[in-house]
Amino acid sequence: MASTADDLREEVRRRYAESAKAVAGEGDGCGCGSGSCCSDDSAASAVGSQKFGYALYEAEQREELPDAAVLASLGCGNPTAIADLHEGETVLDLGSGGGIDVILSAERVGRSGLAYGLDMTDEMLALAQRNAEEAGIKNAIFLKGLIEQIPLPAASVDVVISNCVINLSTDKAAVLTELARVLRPGGRIGVSDVVAEDHLTADQRGERGSYVGCIAGALSKSEYIAGLQAAGFEEVSVEFTHEVADGMHGAIVKAVKTEAPEQKGLPVIQPASKAGCC
Ligand SMILES: C[S@@+](CC[C@H](N)C(=O)[O-])C[C@H]1O[C@@H](n2cnc3c(N)ncnc32)[C@H](O)[C@@H]1O
Repeated sequence: MASTADDLREEVRRRYAESAKAVAGEGDGCGCGSGSCCSDDSAASAVGSQKFGYALYEAEQREELPDAAVLASLGCGNPTAIADLHEGETVLDLGSGGGIDVILSAERVGRSGLAYGLDMTDEMLALAQRNAEEAGIKNAIFLKGLIEQIPLPAASVDVVISNCVINLSTDKAAVLTELARVLRPGGRIGVSDVVAEDHLTADQRGERGSYVGCIAGALSKSEYIAGLQAAGFEEVSVEFTHEVADGMHGAIVKAVKTEAPEQKGLPVIQPASKAGCC
């Protein structure tokens, strides 16, 4: 049982390193394809159902992707379907895993745009890089780092997407502040995440599934909205799409970075000194 935030993050990293190795055929030999199928976690075992993973993508989207990118899909939604990406935009995917949403984003923004994938797990980054190459993607860059300390300059991104990762963070306030820092004024987020109904306590969320399985660490709907507003976002919405456990939902989270925060009495996000670039 992880005791500190660092221990918990290491547990998450190990869990997703195993998933990446399983998809790459380097795991413990379960031979079952999906990176999650060896887990006894109730949420993870739902990959391939309508709750988590590749089943949440259109068949047409799946057909244009390498098999390993589809099998490595561990998300709880389809952020590229909600982010309304345009040609020429710069997109950042937080916790890019096997690269499925980076590949789809890179195709959407075209050669004049750019898709970054950020992940802390070496095995996932290697898998994503291979998948992007196999898909013939030239406008994607995979970065190693933490979503709590994004290694990109301030105001360098048009859209942030993420698929079932923010719930895994041990410092969600830092993540939301970093989102506001890297986005250009008027930039937007289109995130899929697991979100709890407001009445569930932290203990009740923990009873419904594990932290590494994307359940126990989920924010409630009100916590998500308040956190985004405090970080300098407006037009914030959190919409439940499908129940993944009792009172816990896959959700679409949208928000726009406030254009002129100082005029609205909202926080002005300063670049974090440790968030150096490239
Ligand atoms: C549930 S998987 C989702 C992967 C991908 N978004 C998808 O939809 O398939 C979570 C991913 O986030 C990464 N991750 C979790 N916590 C992170 C953190 N604090 N900083 C960077 N990456 C993190 C893990 O390494 C893993 O690849």
